Amino acid sequence: MIELIGISKRYMLGGVEYPALSDVSLSIKRNDFLALTGASGSGKSTMMNIIGCLDSPTEGRYTLDGEEVAGLDEDQLASVRNRKIGFVFQNFYLMPRMTALDNVAQPLIYRGIGFAKWCAHAEVAL
Ligand SMILES: Nc1ncnc2c1ncn2[C@@H]1O[C@H](COP(=O)(O)OP(=O)(O)O)[C@@H](O)[C@H]1O
Ligand SMILES: [Mg+2]
Repeated sequence: MIELIGISKRYMLGGVEYPALSDVSLSIKRNDFLALTGASGSGKSTMMNIIGCLDSPTEGRYTLDGEEVAGLDEDQLASVRNRKIGFVFQNFYLMPRMTALDNVAQPLIYRGIGFAKWCAHAEVAL
């Protein structure tokens, strides 16, 4: 469950605050499937960065699976991403010097689970 309440995001540009999102509230339930659409510059990427825990809002509350994530620091956001969020990008972003298995296992390795376990999980995933 994704719950955004009164989310705002302002970027600082040369000492001037630029509002990219203003007071956005949105609720996404388990198994919902939705698309964010809008003109270029309307704030889609800013919104996805916040929902994906890559960036924090300037204001508002964001609870992901009941956990408040709006005020987390970068390390805490990385931990939430590792456990709860999957991204599918237009490019694969594979690491070329690593095997396919190691690429797939990367999030599990970061999570600190043992070799035998991540190996088995990654093989099944592949
Ligand atoms: N890192 C940033 N610093 C300053 N302004 C930004 C930054 N990222 C986006 N913006 C501005 O915020 C607005 C929303 O951008 P963005 O979220 O990228 O929109 P979209 O993905 O819908 O094209 C745009 O006006 C953009 O110029
Ligand atoms: Mg964009």
